[in-house]
Amino acid sequence: MELIANQYQVQNLSLLDIAQQFGTPLYVYDAAKIVQKIEELKQAFAQVNLKIKFAGKALTNVSVLKVMRQNGVELDVVSPQELQLGLLAGYEGSQITFTPSGVSFDEIETAVAAGSMVNLDNLSVLEKFGQRYGSSVPCMIRIKPNVAAGGNAKIMTAHDSSKFGIDVRQKAEILQLVEQYQINVVGLHQHTGSDIKTPEAFVQVANIIFEFAHSFKGLKYIDLGGGFKVSYKKDDVVTNMAEVGKELSNAFRAFCQSYGAQLQLWFEPGKFLVSECGYFLTTANVVKHNPTRTFVGINSGLNHLIRPMMYDGAYHEIVNISNPNTTEEETYDVVGYICETDTFGTDRTLKKVREGDVLAFKNAGAYGFTMSSQYNSRFRPAEVLVYQGKAHLIRQRETMEDILRNQVLTEFL
Ligand SMILES: Cc1ncc(COP(=O)(O)O)c(C=O)c1O
Repeated sequence: MELIANQYQVQNLSLLDIAQQFGTPLYVYDAAKIVQKIEELKQAFAQVNLKIKFAGKALTNVSVLKVMRQNGVELDVVSPQELQLGLLAGYEGSQITFTPSGVSFDEIETAVAAGSMVNLDNLSVLEKFGQRYGSSVPCMIRIKPNVAAGGNAKIMTAHDSSKFGIDVRQKAEILQLVEQYQINVVGLHQHTGSDIKTPEAFVQVANIIFEFAHSFKGLKYIDLGGGFKVSYKKDDVVTNMAEVGKELSNAFRAFCQSYGAQLQLWFEPGKFLVSECGYFLTTANVVKHNPTRTFVGINSGLNHLIRPMMYDGAYHEIVNISNPNTTEEETYDVVGYICETDTFGTDRTLKKVREGDVLAFKNAGAYGFTMSSQYNSRFRPAEVLVYQGKAHLIRQRETMEDILRNQVLTEFL
């Protein structure tokens, strides 16, 4: 979003006009930004055989998945339902990887039936897989390297006490099962966590997986997950993609040489590809002055964008796009309308907010809509994709029908 000719624009369209046309609260995604991020990642890893698998959980709208597919990005999913969305977006089952955590075995069977690659993350599941499929179905194993990295405790996934993956210290048990059932392991996977800033953390984990890989014959893929840190506010330290690309590519090439085969390197980023493409547009319902603070109460809450309340320190820049030219600024707490404390931002200095002004939240593409709910029986927002200079509605705002959809209005009461 850029301030051009006194208005905030996405691909030459005024965000305020989009808010007026489709109403608020509204998620708006810029397809051009997604393409730019894909290119950045491809560029950083131009020296290796790279495959990008978008972590669909970050933003599962089918139209966004289609943008990914159009641009040569495959898909990583964590549920059979995400898998269905991928198929609807036009992916072949074989282009979708299933990376579940602690699911029932029938979900794994569903993914295999769709032709998807499965990342197995538990010894008992590996055994069941061997018993069910023997060597007939290729699979990957998610390992846990016991490295603590990531923005906060909820999004760290590779440390000692993490529930994810099979611990590297259980290598002997893995190998025994692979041998016993002749399991066709074609790749190793790991995802360290989200919001990882330094190249060192990526390289450290990659080296653990590379060393581990030497115990397996016939590997084709190494999947290093996602977790690249994007900028949420000015001066944020972010993953230096060019640097990570250079260092990981060197380490990967050296590994391929010592392993004696040219493997493909996979990543499954969520935030990196879609965080910055998204804007969440809301309207200031009330401005409330009290003796110590001034609140802006918006027509949204933790039911639509839960990251600030869910993750310690999660920050979304907020801009008053209705009043960009004023020199008057004030400091506000921006809060939601939910019946508990749902503060989006404290002590935010914004261009003076008047009731009815539209406030835009930045970085709303990843884990925004997909984590929304109907809490307080409120409707989930609509979604719009700006594609080739036009704003397209890609999800309708919910209505009372959606709230009631599965309620059974019985007669016994
Ligand atoms: C297995 C796996 N891969 C990829 C991702 C994407 O992470 P990020 O959005 O930080 O890139 C996640 C996030 O939860 C994940 O669990």
